[in-house]
Amino acid sequence: MLRKFLSNCKKPQGKFGKMVVNAMNKGHAPLCNWAFDLVSFDNEEKVLDVGCGGGGNIIRLLKKYPSIKVDGVDYSATSVESSIQNTQKFKSRTNIVCGDVMNLPFEDNSYDKVISFESIYFWLDPVEGLKEIARVLKDKGRIILALEMTNPQKAQFWTKRCEGMNIYTPEELKEFLLKAGFEDIQLHTAKKVWCLAEGVIYKA
Ligand SMILES: C[S@@+](CC[C@H](N)C(=O)[O-])C[C@H]1O[C@@H](n2cnc3c(N)ncnc32)[C@H](O)[C@@H]1O
Repeated sequence: MLRKFLSNCKKPQGKFGKMVVNAMNKGHAPLCNWAFDLVSFDNEEKVLDVGCGGGGNIIRLLKKYPSIKVDGVDYSATSVESSIQNTQKFKSRTNIVCGDVMNLPFEDNSYDKVISFESIYFWLDPVEGLKEIARVLKDKGRIILALEMTNPQKAQFWTKRCEGMNIYTPEELKEFLLKAGFEDIQLHTAKKVWCLAEGVIYKA
């Protein structure tokens, strides 16, 4: 059962996957609220949520900034379907599509900010995924990663039961961002293992 739950965190599928993403919408609220207190957004901005799951973080941002536009992308069809259902009320300000962070279905220079919460654990290659995010960000665009698990030792219970799940330390996240071309890296930590990592991409 635990393995089934974890594989649905990695790539939600079917009815059980829908239950998992809806539970994550609630469960990740504290992390998301912490992140949105640390980083301010602008009503004029266009934001992308990578690995958007059930769309909970998109909704929180749309509610907090009444004219911001927030798109979502996720490689799980179940996540995309759930996000679309959950964001019905806001459909004029969001577009949620299926796609892999390794090959995002967006033009270069499309977004002011990219958020990605609780997703990088599952990416095939974090640096290549971050490079792809850099591509779709505009000049001076910002990436915001937020994670509840950053201690590989403590998280072994989960990683041993979920193939392809990797836990990264804040220093490793910083290294990935630098390798992908981001600058002005800032790391914020809380509750011993939470981390928000942000960086800016300069293209000019
Ligand atoms: C643990 S859930 C987090 C969902 C949401 N961000 C939240 O905070 O509730 C991880 C999500 O990342 C998505 N994901 C994992 N790897 C991905 C990839 N390579 N490209 C796009 N989405 C991915 C999964 O399908 C899943 O919906």
